Amino acid sequence: MSFTYRNGILHAENVPLPELAARHGTPTYVYSTAALRARLAAYVEAFRGIDPLICYALKANSNQAVIATFAREGAGADVVSMGELKRALAAGVPARKIVFAGVGKTAEEMRFALQHGILQFNVESEPELRLLSDVACGMGVTAPVALRVNPDVDAKTHAKITTGKAENKFGIDMDHAPGVAALAKSLPGIALEALALHIGSQLMDVAPFRTAFARLGALARQVNAAGGPALRRLDFGGGVGVGYAGEAPPDLRDYAEAVRSAIAGLGVGAILEPGRSLVAEAGVLLGRVIRVKEGVAKRFAIVDTAMNDLIRPTLYEAWMPILAVSEPRPGANRALMDVVGPICETGDYLALDRELPPLNAGDLFVVGGAGAYGAAMSSSYNTRPLAAELLVNGDQVAVIRPRQDIDALIAGEKLAPWLTS
Ligand code: LLP
Repeated sequence: MSFTYRNGILHAENVPLPELAARHGTPTYVYSTAALRARLAAYVEAFRGIDPLICYALKANSNQAVIATFAREGAGADVVSMGELKRALAAGVPARKIVFAGVGKTAEEMRFALQHGILQFNVESEPELRLLSDVACGMGVTAPVALRVNPDVDAKTHAKITTGKAENKFGIDMDHAPGVAALAKSLPGIALEALALHIGSQLMDVAPFRTAFARLGALARQVNAAGGPALRRLDFGGGVGVGYAGEAPPDLRDYAEAVRSAIAGLGVGAILEPGRSLVAEAGVLLGRVIRVKEGVAKRFAIVDTAMNDLIRPTLYEAWMPILAVSEPRPGANRALMDVVGPICETGDYLALDRELPPLNAGDLFVVGGAGAYGAAMSSSYNTRPLAAELLVNGDQVAVIRPRQDIDALIAGEKLAPWLTS
């Protein structure tokens, strides 16, 4: 295990968290190399025989050291912007292992990706396909394309992260897909090589995956039967959910089985784009209690981690575990409290009505499962500097992003000329 109590103190691998707080301050994201590697290895193991290209979805955690940890193990990358593409290349992901997803790619982004020779563009609409054809022709190259389809399957997850329903902005409707595939085969500068889908994030049940993957497999057969070069790959989108409250996530072997049956007999390779499940449990957000305030209606633990550091509880009503760094004594009294940040918004909380062991001013705690969509979604709202990020590897600790410097943050802004005289 990567985050465990040893002698009553929570450790990241072999490193006691109070040591990290003393040296690097709080709030700080702490990631475990062993956990990152173990999660990737679990996918590789479950998919043995299918041997998919695992394109880590950078959006979950785009720190260079995290990407490089996966790249060293052979993973590719799923990127959704020029910025993420540059990050993947900078961290050493070979261009031939990069898929470019996203509903709003611009001509400039397409050009950049074509220059670098990425594996495939996941195209989400006919206008996007036509633009990509124009851009590729203008450069005298051919763009490898996957059509991302929308299978109209309810992923049974939070509305803000459901992506595969007909009313969502993503993908090409199943009914239109054969026509767009035919168009892709006829357009200059386009090589239709794959089909793709992504139905949502934080799925805790394999059934919607199974339904969607079967639809994708059937569509692939139809597209192949229509003639032209056969498809080479199917891209199954993001990975499984995470049991933030200790609930069992989908078994990766069942998930792999759904992929296996979708590609059976098709002669195609598989691509996966997991993000959350590779990094969530490999990271914690380490914070400190500033003070405890007894309200009339509630007790508030006011902490130095806020919605700018971790927005998931506010944005998705996400339940994330909170653990005291000093292990509570067995039988310690627990009390109901809200764990809130210092930001001037009522929505600034990490937990509401949570029963927790006593937390006092100065105590350290962590938010668990914070490796995914934590630092990547953080901001400097209220001019709170972006948190530091640390990567632990056994006894070693590396600062993989120093805490943002407030003076540098301010110096990055410029007065307009008419304000300087
Ligand atoms: N591929 C595509 C096309 C995606 O849109 C996503 C996530 C993934 C892969 C990775 O999915 P995962 O394996 O992480 O489930 N910020 C939200 C999650 C947003 C997910 C968006 N798309 C959260 O914190 O819950």
